[in-house]
Amino acid sequence: MSEPLILGIETSCDETSAAVLRGERDLLGHVIFTQDIHTLYGGVVPELASRAHLRTVDDVVEGALREAGVTLADIDVVGVTAGPGLIGALLVGVSWGKAAAFAAGKPVVGVHHMEGHLFATHLEHPGAEPPFVGLLVSGGHTMLLWVPAWGEYRLLGATRDDAAGEAFDKAAKILGLGYPGGPSIQRAATEGDPARHPLPRPLLNRGERPGDREYYDMSFSGLKNALRLLARDLESKGTLAEETPHVAASFQAAAVDVLTAKTMRAVREMNCPRVVLGGGVANSRALREALARKLGSRGELYAPSPRLSTDNAAMIARAALFRWRRGETGGLDLNARADLPF
Ligand code: KG4
Ligand code: ZN
Repeated sequence: MSEPLILGIETSCDETSAAVLRGERDLLGHVIFTQDIHTLYGGVVPELASRAHLRTVDDVVEGALREAGVTLADIDVVGVTAGPGLIGALLVGVSWGKAAAFAAGKPVVGVHHMEGHLFATHLEHPGAEPPFVGLLVSGGHTMLLWVPAWGEYRLLGATRDDAAGEAFDKAAKILGLGYPGGPSIQRAATEGDPARHPLPRPLLNRGERPGDREYYDMSFSGLKNALRLLARDLESKGTLAEETPHVAASFQAAAVDVLTAKTMRAVREMNCPRVVLGGGVANSRALREALARKLGSRGELYAPSPRLSTDNAAMIARAALFRWRRGETGGLDLNARADLPF
């Protein structure tokens, strides 16, 4: 039998995306439309996101099909993000996916967005196979996972307040650097000394044993507040502008220390030196370098390319293939869930 063709659809937040995947790795078409309306408001406005998805989903899916040189009739299975995410945004994709599947007489599969992120890295790196420790870090999520096999996900720890990427974005705003914050902090930090302004590493050494939530949990709001106070102090001395590279480097070092230390705890505890990164913060050079250094020559570190680190439909198509092969198709009663559990 020839490889199945999967149409993936992603609308959980502010990216409208569609992809056509053949088999496990052959990405024939992929369109990611990032809604820019939200930049006016400094954050994603859910109602505007839903409306923008409604306006663009037809064209985005059509674009992916055209790029792949296929029509809906050629598709074997439709995979769509069913959650977690913004409910109105999710509903656009789920309704579209169900209607398309019904019209074409093909099955539809509801996909968990975070499972998608884990498969994103696997799309590009065949070695990113379980067992592995997963670190999913973006503007919306911060999750440390133990993945003994595809489909088995144990949440070890998560952030207690801001997501890792959100912390970078807020820090950049405090320092008057551009959005998104991660890349602009990284740029400013190249000129800076990360040891010049010691900043706190919240929960770094907390938790005695793996059974304690604090052992793996993270927190970034205390770090952000310390940065705010530092910036205010430097501002009053009139030295903020010249110190900004050092402050950016210090912030980045503190955030990376926390992410790296918690990930390495999982690596040791699970006795598994294979780490898979996902989400926008996976682009952080400092994070990749720190993890690679800690993992050493025995370790394996896999990270997605920038295009697949962000929310995208290729990863949803790949996760849908996995679920479909296990016979997990949904019917017309497939629904979106904002808080879909893992
Ligand atoms: O997955 P993503 O593209 O989208 C959403 O979260 O919606 O992640 C974007 C996040 C932003 O918070 C951005 O600041 C962060 O990823 N990010 C980075 C870097 N590149 C992007 N954070 C740290 N270092 C980077 N180089
Ligand atoms: Zn995401």
